[in-house]
Amino acid sequence: MSTFKAVIVGAGAMGQAWGSNLKSISNQVEIGGWVDIRPDAAASAADKIGISAYTGSDLEKAIAEVKPDFVVDVTIPESHKEVTLTSLKAGVPVLGEKPMAASMAEAREMVAASEKSDKLYMVSQSRRYDKNLSAYRSLIEKVGPLGILNSDFYIGAHFGGFRDEMASPLILDMAIHTFDAARYLCNGDPVAVYCEEFNPPWSWYSGDVSATAIFEMVGGLRYTYRGSWCSEGQATSWEAEWRAVGAKGTATWDGVGDHPPTAELVSGEEGFIRAITPLTAEVVEEPSGIAGSIQDFLNALKTGATPMGECHDNIKSLAMVFAAIESSETRQRIPVAL
Ligand SMILES: NC(=O)c1ccc[n+]([C@@H]2O[C@H](COP(=O)([O-])OP(=O)(O)OC[C@H]3O[C@@H](n4cnc5c(N)ncnc54)[C@H](O)[C@@H]3O)[C@@H](O)[C@H]2O)c1
Repeated sequence: MSTFKAVIVGAGAMGQAWGSNLKSISNQVEIGGWVDIRPDAAASAADKIGISAYTGSDLEKAIAEVKPDFVVDVTIPESHKEVTLTSLKAGVPVLGEKPMAASMAEAREMVAASEKSDKLYMVSQSRRYDKNLSAYRSLIEKVGPLGILNSDFYIGAHFGGFRDEMASPLILDMAIHTFDAARYLCNGDPVAVYCEEFNPPWSWYSGDVSATAIFEMVGGLRYTYRGSWCSEGQATSWEAEWRAVGAKGTATWDGVGDHPPTAELVSGEEGFIRAITPLTAEVVEEPSGIAGSIQDFLNALKTGATPMGECHDNIKSLAMVFAAIESSETRQRIPVAL
């Protein structure tokens, strides 16, 4: 017997991944309904993953029929506001895919709607749920407080489709994960950014798919992001490659799943180069990716705890994205406004 009933909205590639994840925890969550504006898309997705549920194309009707405990929004970014507002207005909490919205104005409306309805709206920033990332965060506490945090992201990604035509494919579609991880790792908020987006001559994308950004974070920490999606060879991990420098030493992680983060803590007080003590992070198994998001969300519904990705917090990662794009367009240092 499931404790919670959910309606999924969006039956595309990612919607089906959510459907499979929820099906695998049917003792906790029943998929009561599935909605997609494309006729029959929800019904065929339900068939494909082998569940029987209410299906249709109208979310309000689905909520009235199914009476879910929460809605999972896996639509395109341009539809996130509509789906979230409809659900919250009906008094139903929302677990939504990233990015929160297609603009900061929309995102602010969504946060306000969560406050007005007094219902949880959490954005699933699923790459946060990673045993190595949380081990790295704990290691960083040992070298901190931090003054420097760097991330490198270099992958030659041949998607084809809409990303090849977008104006800022790397920053809009991918960097939100890395920016969000940076906030998580330094446990800090952004202040301002200087960013340049550019497109190397060999790029197969129309828009600028490479970028360098320098963020000032609260307390003066500088977080730098260097990345490209048109970088062939010597790829980094999708989690990026990290270096964190604090008063007591340096911690690094190459972002690779089975490589634990490591650090060197300064232990000597003399000499041109001080003696160091090496340290390897203790990595503890935990639910990862979408499964981690779902457990965080369910725990919040059960206990009232604030999950990672709660909208008041997640909007700060979105703000980093839009400030970086504005900086790149204007060639100015831009405050990260919430
Ligand atoms: N966390 C990750 O690593 C990750 C990876 C891929 C995609 N995503 C995110 O997941 C979301 C969905 O991505 P996708 O690749 O599945 O897209 P997709 O285009 O394959 O599917 C989106 C579906 O939503 C439906 N839809 C659009 N507007 C709707 C509305 N108002 N009501 C109901 N249905 C609607 C479309 O018909 C489509 O079937 C996006 O926000 C994307 O950024 C996240």
